[in-house]
Parts: sequence; C-alpha cells; structure tokens
Amino acid sequence: MAPLHLFLLAGVFSVGLCQYYDYGDYYAPVSLSTPNCAQECECPINFPSAMYCDNRNLKFIPIVPSGIKYLYLQNNQINEIKAGVFDNVTDLRWLVLDYNQITSEKIQSGTIDKLGSLEKLHFNYNNLTKPPGPLSKSMMDLKMTGNQLSTFPAGTLAGMENLTTLYINNNKLTSESIAGAFKGLKSLMLLDVSHNKLKKLPSGVPSSLMMLYADYNDIDSVPSGYLAKLPALQYLRISHNKLVDSGIPAGVFNVSLLTELDLSFNKLTSIPEINESLEYLYLQVNDISKFELGSFCKFSSPVNYSRLRILRLDGNNLTQGNLPADTSNCLRQVSELIIN
Ligand SMILES: *[C@@H]1O[C@H](CO)[C@@H](O)[C@H](O)[C@H]1NC(C)=O
Ligand SMILES: *[C@@H]1O[C@H](CO)[C@@H](O)[C@H](O)[C@H]1NC(C)=O
Ligand SMILES: *[C@@H]1O[C@H](CO)[C@@H](O)[C@H](O)[C@H]1NC(C)=O
Ligand SMILES: *[C@@H]1O[C@H](CO)[C@@H](O)[C@H](O)[C@H]1NC(C)=O
Ligand SMILES: *[C@@H]1O[C@H](CO)[C@@H](O)[C@H](O)[C@H]1NC(C)=O
Ligand SMILES: *[C@@H]1O[C@H](CO)[C@@H](O)[C@H](O)[C@H]1NC(C)=O
Ligand SMILES: *[C@@H]1O[C@H](CO)[C@@H](O)[C@H](O)[C@H]1NC(C)=O
Repeated sequence: MAPLHLFLLAGVFSVGLCQYYDYGDYYAPVSLSTPNCAQECECPINFPSAMYCDNRNLKFIPIVPSGIKYLYLQNNQINEIKAGVFDNVTDLRWLVLDYNQITSEKIQSGTIDKLGSLEKLHFNYNNLTKPPGPLSKSMMDLKMTGNQLSTFPAGTLAGMENLTTLYINNNKLTSESIAGAFKGLKSLMLLDVSHNKLKKLPSGVPSSLMMLYADYNDIDSVPSGYLAKLPALQYLRISHNKLVDSGIPAGVFNVSLLTELDLSFNKLTSIPEINESLEYLYLQVNDISKFELGSFCKFSSPVNYSRLRILRLDGNNLTQGNLPADTSNCLRQVSELIIN
C-alpha cells in the first residue's frame, strides 16, 4: 500500500512540475514563444535566448532570429547547412544537431565556420566524413560520435585552449588520421576514441587528460612511458583490442592517480604490474593462466597493500586454486573478485 500511495503522491507533484519536458540531456521550460521565434520552434519567454526545434521532422534549418544563443535541432531529417542560415546569430554558443543526416559536403562555408563564440557543438549520429569547420577556438565541448569520420586534419582543434571534452568514437578513424590532432590542447579532460580503427593509442594527447576511452580498436600495445606523460589520468579503457604481453612494457601502468584500468577482451597471458593505488581492474576474457601477487603488491605489510576494490578475471584460464595463500593480505580492500 505504501509504495502505491507514494506513487500517487509523486503523480500529484508532477502535475505542478509538468511544464518541464524531458529532452534527454536538455530541459526545456514550455510556455509561450517569443514573437520572432521561428514558427516551427519554441523560444520560451523565460529563456528567450534558446530556440527548441528538436523532434519536428524538419528537413532544413529554420530561420534563426538574432538573440538566440542556444539552438536545439536534434532528431530531425536535416541533411544540409545552407550558407546564411546563421547570419543573424554569429554569436551562437550552443548548437545541437544530433540525429540528423548531414554530410560533410552539404555544410556550406559561411555557416558553422562563422560561429566565433561557439562553445558546444553536438554533431552525434550524422553522416560526417570529416570534422566541420574551421571551428571556433572558444569550443569547450565537441561531440561527433557515430559519424563516418575517416580524416581529422591536424589543425582541426588548434588553439582550442578551453576544449575539455571530445567525443569522436564510433567513426572510421585510423592512427594516421588522428596523428597530430590533439597537439596544443591545454584543458582536455575526456577523449573518447573508442570504436574506431586505431592500431595504437592516440599520440600527443595533453597532460590534462583524466579519461581516455579507446575500447574496440586494434591496439596491440601501450608505449613505454605513455602514462607517465599523463599525470592526471584516472580512467583508462582499452577493452576489446589486441593487447598482448609483449606490448605491455614493465612498469607502464605504474602511475599513482590511475583509478580504473580496463584491459578486458584482449590477448594478455599474464597480469600486468599495477600501482597499489589502482581501484578497478578489468581483465576478463584474456588468456591469463597465472596469478602473481607481485602484479599488485611488491611487499605486503600493514602499510603496503593494494587499494583494488574490483578485480575481474573471469573468462581466463584461472581458478580459485591459482590464488596464493596470502592474497587476502595484499588484496585486502577487494569487495568483488570474479575469477570464473
Ligand atoms: C534574420 O532575422 C530577420 C528578422 O528576424 C529575418 O527576417 C531573416 O529571415 C533572418 N535571416 C535568417 C537567415 O535567418
Ligand atoms: C546517413 O547514414 C545513415 C546510416 O549510416 C544512412 O542510412 C543514410 O542513408 C545516410 N544518409 C545520407 C544522406 O548519406
Ligand atoms: C578560455 O576561457 C577563458 C576563461 O573563461 C577566456 O578568457 C578565454 O578567452 C577562452 N579562450 C578562448 C580561445 O576562447
Ligand atoms: C613506480 O614508480 C615509482 C615512482 O614513480 C618508483 O619509485 C617505483 O620504483 C616504480 N615501480 C616499479 C615497479 O617500476
Ligand atoms: C606507486 O606510485 C607511487 C607514487 O608514484 C610510488 O611511490 C610507488 O612506489 C608506486 N608503487 C609501485 C608498486 O611501484
Ligand atoms: C613498502 O613498500 C616499499 C616499496 O614499494 C618498500 O620500500 C617499503 O620498505 C615497504 N614498507 C614496509 C613497511 O613494508
Ligand atoms: C591453463 O592452465 C593450466 C594450469 O594452470 C595449464 O596447464 C594449461 O596449459 C593452461 N591452458 C592454456 C590454454 O593456457
């Protein structure tokens, strides 16, 4: 009875709050539009600098009146960006174009390249074969997941000192095509290059990086000293690649800020040495057949022990019998050890 009662109560409350519609990442207050808003769209009176044109089966970009700084065009059937469409709003800050069918050839010049104050460009799930641009140097958040990017010219991100997140996952990028792409970035915190065709980890990534996602590529090694150049890195994911023992130099994961390391679905036969500060280690579905505590703890003592909380080793050639007797001394923080 109690849960039902709560549910009904929640229903009553939501009536009061229902002027808010859920736009996924974005919340739009729904009310009367400002007078010069495009008729296909909504420009809330209490948020007049935003224009919501998402989910409307639009085939092209509507007229954008001056004063708009946040433009939402996701989930339509837009396949081109015609010259002049942003002429009234060259100071646009956010442009969201996810889930359309825009090809690189159909982005005319004098459009995105003229948006000198653009900070956020979401261009996920379109038909881009190369990044649009040149993009504003004020860019902070750039997402191009799920396109057909196969080139990424070296100067694409030049001078974007405030770029913090870059998603170029689920594309057709090779190591050659992104060589030099990240040079000069100063604030990048998250780089997602997963689901591409990389043969090695991206080179020249800035030392500010905290999250590097490179799952689902063809990477076979981690260069010696790679992580030493990334002192802020906390999350490193290289699952579903072709990592082999010979591609993992001694001590390459010995960095003290790393919190999570995902090396699952590779071809490792032994557990690489990690620093005792690592908390999450994923090694499931490799070819590991030996378990050495030295990978986790050089010395086990009251002050020297591994901070690992989760260790996954399932899908390898290991059983409980492979664990040495003093495992619990070294791995004393582990709450989840999955071995088979
Ligand atoms: C610019 O704004 C004016 C006035 O609102 C409008 O008539 C014109 O069509 C707009 N141009 C574009 C390209 O949106
Ligand atoms: C865009 O890509 C989708 C999915 O890959 C495809 O179905 C569609 O035909 C493409 N559209 C254009 C205009 O290239
Ligand atoms: C980066 O951000 C700072 C602080 O907000 C700002 O002063 C600077 O102009 C920005 N840089 C660019 C290239 O937009
Ligand atoms: C790990 O790095 C620390 C300092 O950077 C160093 O003192 C230590 O010897 C290294 N350990 C291994 C196993 O390489
Ligand atoms: C882990 O990193 C710290 C800080 O760099 C270092 O002092 C320590 O020796 C490292 N541990 C191992 C096992 O190398
Ligand atoms: C802890 O480990 C370090 C090397 O990582 C070693 O130099 C030190 O003697 C150990 N301390 C104790 C109390 O075992
Ligand atoms: C699996 O491990 C056992 C003993 O630990 C070993 O004899 C066997 O060769 C291993 N199999 C493979 C495929 O590595």
